[in-house]
Amino acid sequence: MDIRRVSKMVISIAVAVIILAGCSSKAPETPTVTGLELTIEELAEFDGKDGAKAYIAVDGVIYDVTDVREWAGGSHWGKFTAGRDLTTEIKTLSPHGVSKLSGVPVVGKIVTK
Ligand code: HEM
Repeated sequence: MDIRRVSKMVISIAVAVIILAGCSSKAPETPTVTGLELTIEELAEFDGKDGAKAYIAVDGVIYDVTDVREWAGGSHWGKFTAGRDLTTEIKTLSPHGVSKLSGVPVVGKIVTK
């Protein structure tokens, strides 16, 4: 193998490495998704009214029910409103229990500050 072929190969490899390195550095920097951290007081703002998102909390987990038909306008059968912790209610008063939460997007957790 003559020296020109070898140097061509080396240059090609170097270019490939540079291009690949460049690509990877252009990849979107995904921030660590920690989710929302809201206190019970802050959760109250997400009542689904006047364009606000509708969030409910169960066992410290915040669920987004904005797009859940049965929670339209942040209200559930006129009995429950979003923006609250409904752990006890879903477990004791609802006919369905926590099973209805599967598939509902989780957006964060309840914290105490
Ligand atoms: C988190 C708190 C929740 C509470 C306290 C709650 C409570 C209740 C109650 C009391 C009923 C009976 C209403 C009536 O007979 O008038 C009901 C029914 C119903 N809820 Fe919920 N619910 C909650 C979450 C959800 C979620 C997240 C969904 C859907 C994703 C859902 C879907 C339904 C449906 C479809 C019914 C009709 C009956 C059935 O299919 O079991 N609920 N709920």
